Amino acid sequence: MLNFNFQNPTKINFGEGQISVISKEIPLDARVLLVYGGGSIKGNGVYQQVIDALSEHTFFEFSGIEPNPTYDTLMKAQEIIKAENIDYLLAVGGGSVVDGAKFIAAAALYEGNSEGNDPWDILAKQQAVTKALPIGAVLTLPATGSESNGNSVVTRDGNKLPFSSPLVRPLFAVLDPTVTLSLSDRQISNGVVDAFIHTIEQYLTYSVNGKVQDRFSEGLLQTLIEEGPKALAPATKENLEVRANIMWSATMALNGLIGAGVPQDWSTHMIGHELTGAFGIDHARTLSIVLPAVMKVRKEQKREKLLQYATRVWQITEGDENTRIDQAIRLTEEFFETMQVPTRLSDVDLGSKDIDLLIERLAQHGMTTLGEHSDITLDISREILTQAL
Ligand code: NZQ
Ligand code: ZN
Repeated sequence: MLNFNFQNPTKINFGEGQISVISKEIPLDARVLLVYGGGSIKGNGVYQQVIDALSEHTFFEFSGIEPNPTYDTLMKAQEIIKAENIDYLLAVGGGSVVDGAKFIAAAALYEGNSEGNDPWDILAKQQAVTKALPIGAVLTLPATGSESNGNSVVTRDGNKLPFSSPLVRPLFAVLDPTVTLSLSDRQISNGVVDAFIHTIEQYLTYSVNGKVQDRFSEGLLQTLIEEGPKALAPATKENLEVRANIMWSATMALNGLIGAGVPQDWSTHMIGHELTGAFGIDHARTLSIVLPAVMKVRKEQKREKLLQYATRVWQITEGDENTRIDQAIRLTEEFFETMQVPTRLSDVDLGSKDIDLLIERLAQHGMTTLGEHSDITLDISREILTQAL
């Protein structure tokens, strides 16, 4: 196992009715900015529960954070933060709203350096975040793990870039599975697939004998394979136990625990971000296209872990090594198909003519040494995208 430091201070409040706890989680003297997205929270009763819980607090609102939040939208929040002396952010929504709140929190206190003070540098130049407003989160879409990690992804002019800082990790998060009942099938699928691939990217590398991390990861993958399709099937989709298991899996998949002390390979995500930035494809749907191709192109480098994945996650015990690996990859694709997400670039009407632009963007964003061995060069990314056609 590799050396690691692990600390996850986000307090999780899990279960039905937990939104009311925000009245106690946020200090009474805070000046709160409630940030949310396009209005789904008004249709499903979440907004009202939040407003009720904040009845003793001083709060203001900022809405309109879009999926794949943009720099331009997020910077608009700075006006109200200054005008109203906001000192606490409450994000209510999916990963985009929570990510957006993180950038707002860091931008509000960003001092810059001798070269300037544009908060975009936090993403474009990976300028360190040294201060941020405190954040609380009410999660409405289980997928990203953003509610208890320090990551955020922001888009500007088609450039979708990540940043990370422990200072933007939410202090608390509310996870009430009942609020996920209003999700569309598309968003349920996206969430399950995103969480599945977060787990894979911290698991499918090479073995360092991290038995705890491996078995936690395998447990999460199996849970998502079991419960994901139930959340789409008419007979079981309203089942709160299904929703609860998916919600907790998605948080556990990217709260730092399974990735501590093991190698990681975020190539699927980095290539996927370019697909979203250039063509607007939903985050999870870029991943379901790229991952099977990564598994095929990196079969030799990942051989040992692919075999372990085949045996422990898919219970494949028959056949020679190559047959078992190929079957595991096929079953992964079938799982994505069951979850109704694309597995090929052609499924989203993209073809070989589009690959040059994606490679150009990867180069522009410095994504030239991806993977657990930093050996996924631009040529190999091209091979992966070609495999995904
Ligand atoms: O904007 P509203 O009206 O709220 O509607 C949203 C949005 O249209 C809707 N929605 C959310 N909860 C709902 C609901 N609709 C009905 N009922 C509910 N309970 O769903 C739509 C999509 O929301 P979004 O927040 O964009 O989805 P998701 O949670 O999948 O977040 C995706 C973003 O997170 C980033 C992605 O790149 C993308 O920008 N990621 C963040 C990560 C992190 N912070 O660690 C890691 C991930 O890999 C990912 O990159
Ligand atoms: Zn993701």
